[in-house]
Amino acid sequence: MMPSPHDHSWNGKVVFITGAGTGIGQATALAFAQRGAKLALAGSSEAPLHDTAQRIATLGGTETLCLPCNVTNEDDLARTLSLIEKEWGRLDAAFNNAGIGQGGTPAASISTEEWKRVVDIDLTGTFLSMKYEIPLMLKSGGGAIVNSASTAGLVGFRTAAAYTAAKFGVVGLTKAAAMDYAREAIRINAICPGPIETPMIEKFLGGAEGLRRTKEAQPIGRLGQREEIAEMVVSMCNPATAYLTGSAIAIDGGQTSGVMG
Ligand SMILES: NC(=O)c1ccc[n+]([C@@H]2O[C@H](COP(=O)([O-])OP(=O)(O)OC[C@H]3O[C@@H](n4cnc5c(N)ncnc54)[C@H](O)[C@@H]3O)[C@@H](O)[C@H]2O)c1
Repeated sequence: MMPSPHDHSWNGKVVFITGAGTGIGQATALAFAQRGAKLALAGSSEAPLHDTAQRIATLGGTETLCLPCNVTNEDDLARTLSLIEKEWGRLDAAFNNAGIGQGGTPAASISTEEWKRVVDIDLTGTFLSMKYEIPLMLKSGGGAIVNSASTAGLVGFRTAAAYTAAKFGVVGLTKAAAMDYAREAIRINAICPGPIETPMIEKFLGGAEGLRRTKEAQPIGRLGQREEIAEMVVSMCNPATAYLTGSAIAIDGGQTSGVMG
């Protein structure tokens, strides 16, 4: 759903998104930009960030910063958040969305190296992002953080133990940190998408046949679209949802709601 051309609800506000060059992160950057936000776009490689910035410019969006940043590198995050402070002096919302998938390997066969890579990017990267976002939000008078978990942060998925453990970790981190800052006007929630049509899911489902089977298995009979996640993230950050904190919200076409039969 496109916002009304008169929706300027994020005018003058600053939003930081990791993994902003592709998929769900890019769609969310566009959704905030359409409402007037300034966007700080971070990601491990630079070219996709410029693609997102170009799309924002085409939409007539406001200012953007492209900030190459590896979320597993604490120095990168410290530098990135201090650049945002220097440029715009505040941070109103952050979407910690950078992540990698893992699948197709039973738990005991996952290499220790793969385990550490997934936990490092998906869980530690989310922790390090918050570690540098929260102090700037405190200086800004508060803000809203959404962490990217997954339905794999709510239920177990076969052959994806590293990803499932990391995303359960993101949900736990979200809930504990929400308690720490609930009285300081910082809201922290996790979004738990079901399968969304992005390059990540296509890769892990193993091509067209895997995609068809996954669609068939969904209660709603289709995959989600990245724009549907983007709209939910914006609404979780809106002041209108100010009572929402410490929640892990499934947006999954019914995937985790029951067993079809
Ligand atoms: N697509 C799905 O079905 C789905 C479902 C549930 C959750 N998610 C989660 O949504 C998020 C976005 O996934 P997507 O589907 O848009 O995939 P994607 O691969 O398009 O996006 C991931 C982004 O993260 C960036 N990234 C990866 N490692 C990084 C690092 N170390 N530092 C900085 N950036 C890094 C990538 O460059 C990429 O832009 C991920 O956290 C993923 O786990 C996706």
